[in-house]
Amino acid sequence: MNHTLQHTPKRQHVRQGQRRWITLCLPALTWLATLSLPAQASPAQALATYSSQATAPANVGRGQQFFTSKHGQDWSCASCHGALPTKVGQHAATGKAIGPLAPAYNPERFADAAKTEKWFKRNCNDVLGRACTAQEKADVLAWLISLKP
Ligand code: HEC
Repeated sequence: MNHTLQHTPKRQHVRQGQRRWITLCLPALTWLATLSLPAQASPAQALATYSSQATAPANVGRGQQFFTSKHGQDWSCASCHGALPTKVGQHAATGKAIGPLAPAYNPERFADAAKTEKWFKRNCNDVLGRACTAQEKADVLAWLISLKP
């Protein structure tokens, strides 16, 4: 008796079943993952999200330039976070200490997508008089992630 011939159709059937499971369940799992993103995020995930909405690849140099420049108003991002946000910053208005923004120096950074969005919205409005674009957020984040001890 030829075992190979006997077993091949069964194995093919199993493989087809697996493929069907993947095509049906993968989109559902991906969707579920995006739903749970706001609660559990990481700097890399935040960068991936903003990059997917941006027109060009995130650029570290452009992010630094954006962060340290004024945009027609009194403050730059650096006014409160420092030109090198690996250290504690100081709020330009209240003088309150602000923990480092670079995630390698502060594990609490970019761990909560809702918090990140809330502060981007508020700070961009203070500095630019408008919301930051996904491109600007991606560039800043790429630069912040690149800052390593
Ligand atoms: C007037 C002071 C001020 C300015 C200017 C400012 N920030 Fe902030 N930023 C804060 C404070 C206060 C917090 C919240 C306190 C904290 O998280 O330590 C914060 C938090 C953030 C966070 C939250 C990060 C996280 O997920 O924990 C991001 C992102 C951020 N700022 C980016 C920016 C960018 C980009 C700019 C420039 C467009 C900017 N900030 C300008 C004061 C400022």
